[in-house]
Parts: sequence; C-alpha cells; structure tokens
Amino acid sequence: MSHLIAPSILAADYGHLNKDFDMLNTSQADWVHVDIMDGVFVPNISFGQMLVKPMKAASKLPLDVHLMIVEPEKYVDSFVEAGAEVVTFHLEATNHAHRLISHIQSQGVKAGVAINPQTSVDNLDDILEGLDLVCLMSVNPGFGGQKFIYRTLHKIRTLKRKIMERNLDTLIEIDGGVGLQNAEAILKAGADVLVAGSSVFKSDNPTQTIQRLKEIEIGNFDI
Ligand code: DX5
Ligand code: ZN
Repeated sequence: MSHLIAPSILAADYGHLNKDFDMLNTSQADWVHVDIMDGVFVPNISFGQMLVKPMKAASKLPLDVHLMIVEPEKYVDSFVEAGAEVVTFHLEATNHAHRLISHIQSQGVKAGVAINPQTSVDNLDDILEGLDLVCLMSVNPGFGGQKFIYRTLHKIRTLKRKIMERNLDTLIEIDGGVGLQNAEAILKAGADVLVAGSSVFKSDNPTQTIQRLKEIEIGNFDI
C-alpha cells in the first residue's frame, strides 16, 4: 500500500472552510485530519462535533478525527454520528483503551490510539492486535506549526518492527511538524499516514504540496 496523506484542517482558514474543502476534494489527499482539543487534555481549545458535521458535508474524503480530550469514552459516539470514519483517542486519556477500541469498531469505524512524545510504544504491546491505527505524536499536542521531534523516527522503527513481526496491518500515523523536509525520512522509518497541517495550508500552493508529499517514493524501510 502506498502511504496516505491526511492534511490537518486545524491549519485551514475557518472563515472559508468550504474553499479549503474544495481544494482538498480535488487534491491527492486521502483523509482529512480533524483535531479536537478540549482545553483540559491539551492547553488549547479547537471545536467540537457541531463543526465536524458541516465538515463531513463538505468533504468527499474520510474524516480522521483525533480526540485530544479527557474522558474520550463519553464522546466517541457523537463523533461517529457527526461523520468520523477514523476515531483516535489518547492512550494517556483513559484506563480502558482496550474496551474503547472495541466499542469504536462496533460502531463500524476505524479505531486509533494516539500517544504523546513521552509515552513509549511498548505501552501499546497489549492492544496492538486488532488496532486499526497508531498515531505517534511528533510534537506535544495542542498546537499546529511546531517543530518535529526527531526522536519520533526511532519510535516509528520500533513500532514498525513490532507490527511486522506480529503480521498485523495496523497503520502508523505521524502527527506534528511533518513537511517536505522530513517526510521521506518518516516514511522510510515505517510510517503509513502523514498528517500535515501548516506545511500544506501555509504553503504557496497547497494542492502541489499535497501532491509532492503523496508522490514521495521510498525503496526499502530503513528499520
Ligand atoms: C497537534 C495536532 C496536529 C496539528 C499538526 O496537536 O494534533 O494534528 O494539526 O499541525 P502541523 O502539521 O502544523 O504540525
Ligand atoms: Zn492531530
């Protein structure tokens, strides 16, 4: 499978969301990454389900919803109802990740688990089987436009090895500080999905930036 590109709508122009969705719909993007921040789990607030609904109506691409919220179990259903096709919650935000993964999947959507830069991928060992996606945060969550933490490359390699050894098809998504300057190294380390906010929306030609991210070809993994 070739890698997927998921531009992060957090970096879009909220006064002209339809225009940005038109651009995404006709680009080579695969998913639209939607960041939900509650001001408690992370030190910033974005928006909730009420805005995800019109985004769903405007989008021809699946919505990849990243919940940076406490008590995700209370809210996952409402995000599925609003139109999420992938629902990712933080391992650090619940004591019942295994149960929540099954619950999300029982709603007919993909389940993802995100981990912060401080959290080791070893913490995923007992939930990896059956998990659709792991989102490795390559910045501290809460804001777009931050610098990629290079230690993440090591985490990607470790996780990729675990996934391959166990013959799983769990996708590795990398979120934060991803752009043309580091995408190749990230993909070579074993990433499957690149989230890109500022590097897409703040570029002179977002459609072309998406295309360039999509067209990166890697030979073998560097693991
Ligand atoms: C950070 C969010 C990211 C963010 C990425 O908390 O989870 O998805 O939108 O933005 P960039 O690509 O600008 O780092
Ligand atoms: Zn995100």
